[in-house]
Amino acid sequence: MTYMILLAAGRSERLDIGIKKQYIEYNDKPLFMHSLETIIQVKNIDKIIITIPKEDENSEFIRFLYESNIYKNNKNRIYITFGGKERYDSVRNSFVYIEENLDYNNNDKILIHDSARPFVTKNDIERLIIALDKYNAVSLACKCIDTVKIIKNTSDDIYEVENTLDRDKIYLIYTPQGFRYDTIKKAYDGFYNDTNKISKITDDLQMVEMYTDEKTYLLDGDRNNIKITTKEDLKYIN
Ligand code: CTP
Ligand code: MG
Repeated sequence: MTYMILLAAGRSERLDIGIKKQYIEYNDKPLFMHSLETIIQVKNIDKIIITIPKEDENSEFIRFLYESNIYKNNKNRIYITFGGKERYDSVRNSFVYIEENLDYNNNDKILIHDSARPFVTKNDIERLIIALDKYNAVSLACKCIDTVKIIKNTSDDIYEVENTLDRDKIYLIYTPQGFRYDTIKKAYDGFYNDTNKISKITDDLQMVEMYTDEKTYLLDGDRNNIKITTKEDLKYIN
């Protein structure tokens, strides 16, 4: 089995425009349905679990999903569950949902995607699934094109530079990220059992790096697979 977790339970605090970004209307549908439409086309994905905020269960946006053809034609593939406070809590809730409601085994492939990345391509998802035949933890990524510097202080809007990094070795991390179920499960169990955990973890590959001995890998992805994060990004979905 191959699962896709589609995360749509964030609160868009950095965007801060009064509507959660996953619901912004773009080409006549809420934003989260764009990556859903691409994911649905990937025949190898058996089941898709969408995490939504509990408070939006009866909202017009979720009603729109239930009434859409994409949902009606794929009822046996699309499942809805509720997210948590942090992104990783939403991922964890999806694991609980899978374990309680769906058939799974430790060798299954599990992909995790941010619905705030509406431009993910079918080709990249398919390449990621193939990469999981050989590797247990892989993320789509994109080579950094700007020069990157580490700064010393962050007190003002001008920063003293500490050093410059080797750009050729810097990759920006995209989603989806893909895992074998036992690998990501072990990582999450380690994280939730860690009494000294740092809460700043923002991607699942890092969970594997911190809590397992597995190596993690990056797969070159389409550079247009950007994340809608701040007001400046709204131009991409206008
Ligand atoms: N996400 C989630 N559950 C959370 C937090 C985030 O499902 N508790 C999802 C978001 O819906 C988004 C993806 O994870 O699709 C990436 O997160 P991010 O871009 O940080 O979205 P938000 O957390 O909503 O935005 P912000 O951090 O600005 O509040
Ligand atoms: Mg966030």
